[in-house]
Order: sequence, then C-alpha cells, then structure tokens
Amino acid sequence: MKCTVCKGPAVIDIRRHNANFCSEHFLRLCRDQVAKAIKDFEMLRPDERALVAVSGGKDSLAVWDILLELGYQADGLYLGLGIGDYSDASGEMARAFASARGLHLVEIDLPTDHGFDIPTGARAARRVPCSACGLSKRHLFDEAAREGGYDVVVTGHNLDDEAAVLFGNVLHWQTDYLGRQLPVLPARHGFPRKVKPLVRLGEREMAAYCVLRNIDYIVEECPMAAGNKHLGYKEALNAIEATSPGSKHDFYFGFLARASAHFTTEAEAEQQELHPCGRCGAPTPGEVCAFCRLAERATAVPVSLGRRAEASR
Ligand code: AMP
Ligand code: FES
Ligand code: ZN
Ligand code: ZN
Repeated sequence: MKCTVCKGPAVIDIRRHNANFCSEHFLRLCRDQVAKAIKDFEMLRPDERALVAVSGGKDSLAVWDILLELGYQADGLYLGLGIGDYSDASGEMARAFASARGLHLVEIDLPTDHGFDIPTGARAARRVPCSACGLSKRHLFDEAAREGGYDVVVTGHNLDDEAAVLFGNVLHWQTDYLGRQLPVLPARHGFPRKVKPLVRLGEREMAAYCVLRNIDYIVEECPMAAGNKHLGYKEALNAIEATSPGSKHDFYFGFLARASAHFTTEAEAEQQELHPCGRCGAPTPGEVCAFCRLAERATAVPVSLGRRAEASR
C-alpha cells in the first residue's frame, strides 16, 4: 500500500477518499480537514480564545492538539462527572496531556462543585444517564467559558458522532433538534459560540491521529453509555459505510447543504423565547433551567446513598 501523495509506504487507507497516506501526509490531511471546516463554517479566528472540552478520549485530545498546531489559542476544560473509575482514568489522561505540553487545563468537578454525580443525578431525575450527562456537560461548558472569558467552546464531535445524531433525529423527525444540528452554534444570551472542528474526520482517523502523534487517550467508552441508542445508530451507519464508502459524509454534509435551512426557523423561534434561569442565569424556556432542576433533585439524595445504590444494581 503506497501513499497517494508521495508514493512512500502508507500507514492508513481512507476508503471514502479512495486514498492511502503515509504518516506525514495523513497528519497533514487531518490538519487540512480541520482548517477547512474552520474556514467553511467560520468557526474560529486566531485572535479569539478557545476553550477545548477534553474528555481524555481520542477526539477531544486530537482536536486540542490540531488547533495548537494550526496556531490557535486554546486552553482545555475537563469535567469530572463522578462516573467512578472511568472519570478518574479519563481525568488523568487529560491532565497528562496538558502537563506534558505545558498547557492550561481548567477543571470542574461536578460532585465537588455542584454536590452530585451523574449516576445519582440520572436516577433522581429519572433520566437515562447520557441525557443527564449531556445536559450537565452543556451547562458546565457554558459556565466555564463565561467565567474564563473565552470566546468559543470547542468539542471533539467527529463525523461519526454527527452522522449518528442526525440519523436519530431524522428517524424520529425531531425537527427542533434538526434545526440546531450545525457544526457552529452562534453565541447567544452572553454565552459563547460552540464549534465542532472534527466534522470532516471520522472516529478511525482520530484514533490513528493519536497513535501517530503519541497521544495517550482513554480507549474505554463511558460505562453508562453501553447499549444506548446512539451506539446502535453508529453501528447501522457503519454497516452502510462498509458497502458504500462516503455515505456518512454525504448524509451529513448533504443535510447541511440542502436540508438544514428548512428547520432553522423553528429552532430560531424557540431561541427567541428563552430567558435567563432564575437561579443561574442560563438561557431557558422555563423559570428554572434543566440543570438547576436536575441539581435540585439530585442533591435531595445524598451522594453516598446514590453510590451505594448504583453498586448494588
Ligand atoms: P460525548 O458526549 O462523550 O460523545 O463527548 C462529546 C464531546 O464532549 C467530546 O469530544 C468532548 O469535547 C466533550 N466532553 C465529553 N466528556 C467530557 C468531559 N468529561 N469533560 C470535558 N469535555 C467532555
Ligand atoms: Fe456521559 Fe457517560 S459520559 S453518561
Ligand atoms: Zn506520503
Ligand atoms: Zn439554572
């Protein structure tokens, strides 16, 4: 297998590009794809301060690395979600990456700072863990960016993630979500812009990127995510991609180019109706935001009791 660019020995093939790459040209491809996403969607300017949400996984560490390589100003943000050993191990990966490179990592710990962990919160609010987790993460990203004076929050969502979310939203015709499923969400109500610079790159490429750049990342998936719908959508799309390379890219970018605008009016109307949460100031359609309601219910249950109940399940 030869590199399509230099004819040297290739280390990876990318079927949707119908091309193979050596290490050097693969790393260049990853940087170029991120630079193109940033330019096409006007994600970030060099004079802006970005806060990269890092989970300790391959995608978010890779996007932090690539942004720095491209010359952007980027600090990291790690959220301790209180998901047992998984959180301990993922936090260590994020810290090790930052300290080896002398980077600034902001840390927020949900149990310490807000008095509950995700397993307890999900149970108390009768939500599936990933839903309690997702809403907590979005809230804490906003809060940390605002407190630190950052212009943009960067996440490591890649093409596989975005195609799977789109698949789920289309399957159930969640038109409100479809209107907001964009690689850039503009700043609003004093909250920072949110961007996803990895939308042109897949999961397999991000794993290869980390290996080639010697980035240690947590390989395990979150234990609470096992069996969730999102993983099922990914498997379904992988089966399609295997017989028809490029399908995920066409599905997602075709949606952005040809369909997404049909749904934005509904989403924008909903945004207009938001006002500040009476407790924390975050934008919400109700009086109190979903995070504050979750925190209220979760802290009504002592964390230690929640942990014990989890362990006995
Ligand atoms: P996930 O929701 O686990 O698919 O993660 C999506 C993105 O959210 C990741 O690529 C990270 O950018 C960010 N993220 C997930 N977990 C954390 C965490 N514990 N701390 C900071 N950022 C996170
Ligand atoms: Fe959120 Fe697992 S990372 S539930
Ligand atoms: Zn090459
Ligand atoms: Zn609130």
